[in-house]
Amino acid sequence: MTQEMQNGERLVPFMGVKILLAGSVLAPRAETELLGNAALALLGGMEGAGLLAIDMCCGSGNLCCGLASAAPQVTFLGADLTDDAVAAARLNVERLGLGERVLIRQGDLFAALDGEAAEGRADLIVCNPPYISTGKLEGESAHLLENEPREAFDGGAFGIAIQQRLVREAPAFLKPGGYLLFEFGAGQERQAVSLLNRTGLYELQDFIRDETGLPRVAVARFKGSSA
Ligand SMILES: C[S@@+](CC[C@H](N)C(=O)[O-])C[C@H]1O[C@@H](n2cnc3c(N)ncnc32)[C@H](O)[C@@H]1O
Repeated sequence: MTQEMQNGERLVPFMGVKILLAGSVLAPRAETELLGNAALALLGGMEGAGLLAIDMCCGSGNLCCGLASAAPQVTFLGADLTDDAVAAARLNVERLGLGERVLIRQGDLFAALDGEAAEGRADLIVCNPPYISTGKLEGESAHLLENEPREAFDGGAFGIAIQQRLVREAPAFLKPGGYLLFEFGAGQERQAVSLLNRTGLYELQDFIRDETGLPRVAVARFKGSSA
């Protein structure tokens, strides 16, 4: 249950932890737990020490904090573009005592991780990107912008601009056999398959469906760059 604080901040539950929402950040949505739970199941099945996961477009840090709390064997890099998201994510990492295993960086997608020597090291990448088309945001979905930032929603002319870059840029960071999981909008599954297939570098393993049966999360396995 959401807890309202006196200063206008809110505490919201996500994957068993309480995420503080301060500043202009997206409130985590229930459907994003589908992505988090699928990632947690995959991480739980991985062996070896030194597992690394990336939470790209981390917003308030809900995914990396929820996952890090449930998977103490994993180190996380989280990244976001905006000042408010990065500040909120860092605050949540600190509040939840995860500072030794979760590092938050700022920048445009994977450029945020420059200098982290993370290339070729990630066992898993999660991303809940902005995925609503600019046209929809200026029309039928304009209400979303009343209380939450445009950067959290605006996926460009067709809604898939960030997914397209994510799918192209993630292979440089994944280990062969590592996983890329990303959320997409209702009805975007065909575009998601096409983006993944166009690279020739992934095997689509699964679509996770919401409670109404709609596919909302792609689970893809990186075959390796020489595939
Ligand atoms: C849909 S929100 C997801 C936030 C959070 N991960 C969640 O699950 O609630 C998308 C996030 O992507 C960030 N974002 C948008 N464009 C970006 C970019 N080019 N590079 C990094 N982050 C970006 C936004 O600031 C926003 O926090």
